[in-house]
Formats: sequence, structure tokens, C-alpha cells
Amino acid sequence: MNYLTGGSATILIALLLYFFLPFHHHDEKVDLFADGSLVTTLSLTDLSTHPASQIIQVKLAHEKFADIPFRAVPALDLLSSLFGARLSSQDALAFICSDGYRYVAHQAQLRQDQAYLAYARADQGHFYFRNFIADPKGGKTQEAGPLFLVWQSKNSETLAHTSTASWPFQIVKIEVVPPTKDLAAIPVPRPDAALELRQGYEVYRQRCMSCHGSSEEIAPSIFIMAKTVQKQGKHWLGEWTKNPQALKPGAKMPALALESKHLEEVYQYLQFIP
Ligand code: HEC
Repeated sequence: MNYLTGGSATILIALLLYFFLPFHHHDEKVDLFADGSLVTTLSLTDLSTHPASQIIQVKLAHEKFADIPFRAVPALDLLSSLFGARLSSQDALAFICSDGYRYVAHQAQLRQDQAYLAYARADQGHFYFRNFIADPKGGKTQEAGPLFLVWQSKNSETLAHTSTASWPFQIVKIEVVPPTKDLAAIPVPRPDAALELRQGYEVYRQRCMSCHGSSEEIAPSIFIMAKTVQKQGKHWLGEWTKNPQALKPGAKMPALALESKHLEEVYQYLQFIP
């Protein structure tokens, strides 16, 4: 018996295409949290119909600073309106990616450096970019959605030359965080500081900050940890990060595979912590 008459076959094919084409966005949602509870869920439809949605050109470090057009909404305007009173002027915002990477920014920085939340490319149906930083030879295709934090100011362009840690992609969650918890008092190198120092700060942010913050909740604070590094030296830090348990049986820090370039950079940054 032929179950597929013309009409239902068309519907079936349409459904199959919808679910199996790799680039559909129907379930892409971003959760917004404050004080550990869900405030709202942002859908891509909310963004595409947002009155402040616009096309912006971004010089993308991942694509060797090519101009890439994105559909985007100004990050701080959007988040202030969605969080409302849950976001006080002192709070910072954490952008959490699908791989667990957390990028924390102060509101002042989002404003000054003109951060946007991009949700689509304006020139393609597929929301992606080529990542020549992760894959210098091939420039592998990197999915960017649901959200990609991009910056427009000249200053952030300079920062992107040294590191792209401040350009989190595949953002699945945005959280209001008290500034004291993540960023307060942790020295940030000035934009005109030595390149190695600025890169060292980014290594610290990506590889150490989640445990060694400004408090002692999880591990010794950055201040205590940096004192130990200043006392023990670079060689010791290399041995420690490679295998903490070898130096201190039972140490609760996991072994980290740090490239020697990153080790050197984070070491330089830690020298600069008071
Ligand atoms: C997953 C959590 C975690 C991460 C990530 C992490 N650490 Fe640690 N680290 C710890 C813990 C926990 C200790 C305390 C170990 C102990 O004494 O039991 C520690 C201890 C240390 C110490 C010794 C501090 C002291 O005064 O005794 C240094 C130095 C250190 N870490 C450096 C680093 C550096 C540099 C990075 C990033 C490249 C890093 N850690 C990333 C959890 C972490």
C-alpha cells in the first residue's frame, strides 16, 4: 500500500529537511540567570524581532581580521532590559559557553568597548566563522551559536590581536554575578602593558581563574597562589602545573597541560600580582 500521497510526502520531506539539515536553529535558547535562579529564556526569534537588532561589521581575529557581517543586538541594552532590577549597576555578567568556558565582563567594559550579542550571520544562513586561531592551517569551521559575544570598539580590536578569550562563542547561558566574586581586585594589565603580560592574564582567565579567584572558596586565592609562584620560580610552576600530586601528594589541583608559551606568559602575569 502506498502511504505517501503527494501532499503527505511533501510534508514528510519538509519535516525531514527541517530536522536533519545541520543549520536549523529551532531549539537554540539561552538561559538568563540571576542569584542562581532562571530569570528568563531568550530565543533566537526574540532576538531577530528585537527593535535594536541590526547588522554590524566585525573585524574578526579568528578570520585574520576580515570584516564579517553579523546580525546582533547591543549586549548591555538587551541584558539590562531582560534582567531589569535583577541587574544592579555594580554587577558583572558571566557568559557561559557550551564547553563550560566562562567569560566575565563588567558592565562598564561592555558599554565602553561596544559589545554585541550576535545571533546570525548577515551574509549566510549558517551561523559560523572560520577559526584560524584554533586551526592556523585549515581555518576550521566553528559553530558560533546560539550567541557570540563580539566587540566593535577599536580598543577591543587591539585586545583581540593578543587574545580572543574575550570573544566567547556558543554562549548558552548568561548570569548576573557579583563583581567581588570573579573580577574584583584581580589586576588586569593595562592595554598598553607588555604583550606577554596581557596574554598571561588571558591564560590565567581561561585556565586558572575558575579555581584561583579573589577568594579562597575553591583553591588558594590568586594572591596567595602568585606569592608561592614568585617564591618558587618558573621551573617549579611548570612542574606543579604538569603534576601537582608529584610535588604535593594528595594536592587537590588537577594536572594541566600548559603549552610552554602559555606557561611563560602566565608566569609573567603572576609576577605582577601584588
Ligand atoms: C580545577 C581547579 C584548579 C585550576 C583550574 C587551577 N588550580 Fe591551582 N590549585 C587548585 C587547588 C585546589 C590547589 C590547592 C592544592 C592543595 O594544596 O591541595 C591549587 C594550588 C595551586 C598552587 C599552589 C598554591 C599554594 O600556595 O600552595 C599554584 C602555584 C597553582 N595552584 C597554580 C595554578 C595555575 C598557574 C593555574 C592555571 C594555569 C591553576 N593553578 C589552575 C585548583 C586549581
